[in-house]
Amino acid sequence: MSLPDVVETVAGLQARLDAVRATGASVGFVPTMGYLHEGHASLIDAAVAADDLTVVSIFVNPLQFAPDEDLAEYPRDVEADLACCGDHGADLVFHPSASEVYPVGAEEPVVVGAVGGPLEGASRPSHFAGVATVVARLFRIMGCCRAYFGEKDFQQMAVVRRMAVELELPVEVVGCPIVREADGLALSSRNVYLEPGERRQAPVLYRALLAGAAAVGNGEADPTVVVEVMEDVMSEAPDLVVDYSALVEPDTFVMPGRITTGAEVRLLVAGRLGRTRLVDNVGAVAP
Ligand code: PAJ
Repeated sequence: MSLPDVVETVAGLQARLDAVRATGASVGFVPTMGYLHEGHASLIDAAVAADDLTVVSIFVNPLQFAPDEDLAEYPRDVEADLACCGDHGADLVFHPSASEVYPVGAEEPVVVGAVGGPLEGASRPSHFAGVATVVARLFRIMGCCRAYFGEKDFQQMAVVRRMAVELELPVEVVGCPIVREADGLALSSRNVYLEPGERRQAPVLYRALLAGAAAVGNGEADPTVVVEVMEDVMSEAPDLVVDYSALVEPDTFVMPGRITTGAEVRLLVAGRLGRTRLVDNVGAVAP
């Protein structure tokens, strides 16, 4: 295994990118907050397969955490992250300080469109503005590239896509499927917070989503019935505090009145097990 080069400054990163682009090479970009797992690694694999140079950023973005959230205790292990990036063939790791990312201090937040309003946007009011602001800044630093995002954070991906179009940033956003544990739990850096009893209950989110998707697949056209199906399954986990369960159109995040034949919908759930907030989602197509 060879470790990737690490750059900590915007100037250093851009010098490397300029040199590589001068040869006509394409650039792949995987933005992360570190504490990498196989979910992140799948994004690196996708970038390495499609692009000539793969850059992974590791930056725990303070702007996207509310004051009562887990910024201070967010898990960090940069050495293991570099090993993971090396194992998966990333070429460069961008590991900047906050002052490098936000050189003028308090950044003017990027305004998030309607797609960021419901669900995560309602539960975490300042979250998407913080995500869109840092990702816009990172996209501007990176310049022309393909950027890889996980469907794990499906609404985040939609917010970022919209933001890149609205700001006319030369970035193609590529969505990648969710990587799961054998029992269905979606991999997440925050899963380390789960106590053993909570960990045993955590796959209920995915089971609920599969039950909801099966209802759609069997022709259920009423979104509220599909949501009830998911809520019934989630009620099996005694310690799960459900935040939301929803069925929406994947592009608008609006709940349709009826699910029409052939329509693609997205089912999303979020909840808390102890102090750990979990999110998950699946797609479904109406017959
Ligand atoms: P982070 O939570 O570190 O996630 C980085 C990327 O990895 C995101 O695109 C996320 O959707 C993806 N990812 C996480 N778990 C995954 C899984 N189980 N399967 C597939 N992909 C997965 O998301 C963020 O960081 C931040 O908000 C960021 C975009 C970096 C902005 O700060």
